[in-house]
Amino acid sequence: MSTKAPSLDHHPTLRHADREAIGAELQGVLVELTDLSLLGKQAHWNLFGPNFRALHLQLDELVDAWRTAADEVAERAIALGHPPDGRAQTIAERTELEPLPAGPIADHEVVTAFTERMTDAIGRIRTRMDRIENVDAVTADLLHGVVMGLEKQLWMIRVQV
Ligand SMILES: [Fe+2]
Repeated sequence: MSTKAPSLDHHPTLRHADREAIGAELQGVLVELTDLSLLGKQAHWNLFGPNFRALHLQLDELVDAWRTAADEVAERAIALGHPPDGRAQTIAERTELEPLPAGPIADHEVVTAFTERMTDAIGRIRTRMDRIENVDAVTADLLHGVVMGLEKQLWMIRVQV
């Protein structure tokens, strides 16, 4: 026996079409943040080199931040009636981030790899943010916070090059 999910298609002020558009942008950000968090753990585990300890710990801080941000983005989507999709298959199909090579990865390679991938992700998330800036200030504010966090994290990775 299946139970019907409650209708999510209601909101006090936002129009249906706007919420669909916002939901699609949030889904794109969810994919970026989820893949970043997976890549972060991959590097955390496979890292080697003289800067191992600091970078190993920093990667876990980044993963925590990305997972927290992904959770906020997904919950904003569902609050607007757009079901977030965080399934592995969906992330794999939709991510635009370059994968990391399999196996051990040196500390300086990790710094370069994340500098590039975070820069790319920030660019795409800023584009999504700009598209909803005049549609929903509340969701735009959430993405402002996500971008601010990512840009600070990028600085803290990039200076190690
Ligand atoms: Fe660990």
